[in-house]
Amino acid sequence: MRLILVGPPGAGKGTQAVHLAAHYGIPHISTGDIFRLNIKNETELGKLAKSYSDAGNLVPDSVTNEMVRDRLTHGDVANGFLLDGFPRNVAQAEFLRAILAEKSAPIDAALEFSLEDAEILLRLTGRRTCRACGTSFHIVFEKPAVDGICDKCQGELYQRQDDSEEVITHRLAVYAEQTQPIIAFYRSEGLLISIPATGEVSEISARAISALSAAVN
Ligand code: AP5
Repeated sequence: MRLILVGPPGAGKGTQAVHLAAHYGIPHISTGDIFRLNIKNETELGKLAKSYSDAGNLVPDSVTNEMVRDRLTHGDVANGFLLDGFPRNVAQAEFLRAILAEKSAPIDAALEFSLEDAEILLRLTGRRTCRACGTSFHIVFEKPAVDGICDKCQGELYQRQDDSEEVITHRLAVYAEQTQPIIAFYRSEGLLISIPATGEVSEISARAISALSAAVN
């Protein structure tokens, strides 16, 4: 299963990716997580990515595309993968199609998660992320057992730099302008599956798995 998750910031792509990757036994590849790991480790890539991601802008395609090309050479993608946060514009979608065509391994489906802006704002302003393992929590919807501490690894929870109301508003505008056109791209390829991202996390996963079973052999 080779899957892409598309949707506005805060729609729950990362949350769903964890469940879907476990269900299908495939690696979860999040370009946002790769950038954040590099920012934490203060690599050259991280220094470059930080200036873009803190402001809610996309990192240049030349950098992101090569990072994904390299990631897709790792052995763990032999039986499939789930891409979360890539592609983010039509040029990235065309790049991905080309590199997968070289491997005769096209994607099976693009899952679009849709959610109203008001709900997105609630989800993102309340999100807390583990500094050590990257797991997302929410101060109301997905509370950790102990405030400020990750349930999985006991790491410290922090608020992402790009989760301020001002940057969220900008990210939504960037999504509408640059990312939304890939919905039409995947629709025209016959690969788009749209899933309402409202309700409980488990309900949304069940919806996605059921839609995928119907669409992908
Ligand atoms: P990235 O990390 O990809 O950010 P994003 O797309 O904006 O998505 P988010 O991680 O904010 O949200 P999500 O949809 O994963 O929601 P989550 O599951 O966490 O990218 C960050 C930056 O990196 C970009 O701005 C850019 O600079 C750069 N970048 C990354 N990819 C790039 C690319 N391809 N090209 C160029 N630049 C790139 O959920 C959010 C919250 O809601 C959590 O608190 C969660 O607990 C809660 N929640 C989830 N589901 C539910 C539910 N059903 N009910 C209630 N709460 C819920």
